[in-house]
Amino acid sequence: MSQTTRVIIFDTTLRDGEQAPGFSMDVPSKVKMAMALDALGVDIIEAGFPIASPADSEATRQVAMQVTRPVIAALARCRPADIDEAALALAPATRKRIHTFLATSDLHLEKKLRITREACLEATVSAVSRARQVTDDVEFSAEDATRSDRDFLCRVVEGAIAAGATTINLPDTVGYATPEDIREFFEEIRRRVPNSDKATFSAHCHDDLGLAVANSIASVQGGVRQIECTINGIGERAGNASLEEIVMAFRVRQDRLPYDTAIETPHLFAASQLLSELTSEPVQANKAIVGRNAFAHEAGIHQDGMLKDSRTYEIMCPQDVGQTPDQLVLGRHSGRHAVHKRCETLGFNLSSDELAAVYHEVVTMGEHRKSIGDNDLRRMIARARAVSEASHSSR
Ligand code: KIV
Ligand code: ZN
Repeated sequence: MSQTTRVIIFDTTLRDGEQAPGFSMDVPSKVKMAMALDALGVDIIEAGFPIASPADSEATRQVAMQVTRPVIAALARCRPADIDEAALALAPATRKRIHTFLATSDLHLEKKLRITREACLEATVSAVSRARQVTDDVEFSAEDATRSDRDFLCRVVEGAIAAGATTINLPDTVGYATPEDIREFFEEIRRRVPNSDKATFSAHCHDDLGLAVANSIASVQGGVRQIECTINGIGERAGNASLEEIVMAFRVRQDRLPYDTAIETPHLFAASQLLSELTSEPVQANKAIVGRNAFAHEAGIHQDGMLKDSRTYEIMCPQDVGQTPDQLVLGRHSGRHAVHKRCETLGFNLSSDELAAVYHEVVTMGEHRKSIGDNDLRRMIARARAVSEASHSSR
């Protein structure tokens, strides 16, 4: 049976993202960010891990109360107290999901949890059943799934679905997978689990090898229809898969990736900026889609190409992600064409001698300065004009 092309965007900026060092947010900040995620059109907001702290619980409750369109999810270990705390925090939600998780790899079971595989299976089934008494929308995550024994993982997934899980998330918790691995992994699990057609499969990829976005996309090719991701790719260690990169990859490469999401892409830049503001963590300048250099051009050859046809150096329109168009940065690499264009934009039509003088000053100043602003340019124009007027009057 053919699958839908619609991919559910499960945003975990406020949970996995927020739990990374330096990214914690207070309750009002989380609510503000949740509102931006709502405007962006995410399907599900994971608002927190309520048992982790009273602040996490309160933030989840406030988001559940104030943000009514998306499904609001809360994380819980496969323990009764966690499920009950999640249920309490989600009580005001219009649409709620309990997201319960337990590690399935032998490494985690033996070294971290010190429980047997049988105990893991039992705890999974009982947590999912308890969560189903609170809501019909229950997600089970098999932490460290990609390093788990496949036969055992299939048993756990089958048990979770039989107990009522409607979404099965198989995280690449430590960012170990490659795109080819993870695509085959999802194909195999879906093929081998007899009741797999009763659940939506989900990917949750970490970026330890810089492959989180590629792995998320490969997972979709392997049959996943929910991706867990974060704004700016924030999250534990190297982070999670970046929401904006996945969504734009689908949008720009429909020829190879015929999938769609409900994301209103013109809101991407604002959401990224808001997160940066709320956490006081800058966005890397060259970050794809939302970095300040993502649509900026300084090299003369590139600026010339951009002025003739922006498709020469841009594969998407900046406006489509909420960025400003025509970001031709003046600096030591700039070309004459871009300097001329910027002067025109500022309302100055320069003679060729004036342009030559201004261009020379731009390149010289660019040796010492990162970039040259409009006021610098106005001063250069004034100097060039003064010199040309003086030479005309002395003739
Ligand atoms: O990375 C991970 O395995 C997680 C789970 C709790 C979903 O964040
Ligand atoms: Zn994670």
